[in-house]
Amino acid sequence: MSSVHSLPVARPFLKWVGGKSQLLGQFAELFPPALRADWRGRYFEPFLGGGALLFEFLERFRPATAFASDLNRDLVLCYQMIRDDLDSILAELRPLAEAYLEGDRTTRDGLFYAVREDFNRAEAGGNDSAHRARRASQLLFLNKTCFNGLYRVNRRGAFNTPSGAWKQNRPLICDEQNLRAVSAALRNVRLECAAYDWIEAQVGAGDFVYFDPPYRPLSPTSSFKSYTAGGFDDEQQRQLAACFARLAERGAMVMLSNSDPLSVDPADSFFDELYSGFRIHRVQASRMVNAKASGRGRISEIVVTNW
Ligand SMILES: C[S@@+](CC[C@H](N)C(=O)[O-])C[C@H]1O[C@@H](n2cnc3c(N)ncnc32)[C@H](O)[C@@H]1O
Repeated sequence: MSSVHSLPVARPFLKWVGGKSQLLGQFAELFPPALRADWRGRYFEPFLGGGALLFEFLERFRPATAFASDLNRDLVLCYQMIRDDLDSILAELRPLAEAYLEGDRTTRDGLFYAVREDFNRAEAGGNDSAHRARRASQLLFLNKTCFNGLYRVNRRGAFNTPSGAWKQNRPLICDEQNLRAVSAALRNVRLECAAYDWIEAQVGAGDFVYFDPPYRPLSPTSSFKSYTAGGFDDEQQRQLAACFARLAERGAMVMLSNSDPLSVDPADSFFDELYSGFRIHRVQASRMVNAKASGRGRISEIVVTNW
């Protein structure tokens, strides 16, 4: 059996809106010195999504325990199944990927919509392990073959992104090597489907918490609110800021990222006011926005820290 160390470094296995891979280099410059010494704390990431920082953190700092969670049930199921029963996922995913790659555009579209329909028809919460493996492999397949790799659900929670990867010649649908690395990396990670505030009962002094909530929309037209059937409005951003302050008060290291409203509206100091007691850093994102005030261009994102 291969050990964690003989495997390649685990990378995010899903493309997810708000993914932080492109910002990791800038985040690393902000990490507090306490992490670099003989840190013995635990890592918490309660808005997991694609988990870019989780994988980076596990590799760099090797916390003995990490807690990762998200409100999206299917997303968490996918992580759990990759950790606990990857072979069953691969048994479902390999033939799907092969059929897709061999097909022409019509076949690919047909397969995509058949899998999407089955995914939306099935009960997400079934406890049967074959059902869970099937569902996780379907999510992986849909994520790699849908338009722009964008996970989006409608009000009823149904996945509704259209087919898209037929544009690529050979999309990498079943990246077995990375999935094995991810499975090993997640071995000591506790994975929960829960609203972010469940971690309040767990976090203590010396722990590290990273909050990456849904972006606050920068303009009425840029609002992407569909990771889950519910949204994340300004009132929830305020409640999250209060939670941030409580954990900081306890002596945890707390870090939060979000969109930067000042990028597009010099009068919108929402986060500057909300986190005025903490340090607000600005990092450059390659995300493009099209807001009347600024035209089209690169924008910054905020990173709030309590150190
Ligand atoms: C910006 S994304 C996280 C992106 C992630 N850091 C990455 O690198 O891909 C926000 C995530 O928060 C989840 N979410 C939304 N509302 C939530 C809540 N109240 N509690 C926990 N998670 C929530 C969404 O399902 C989504 O996966």
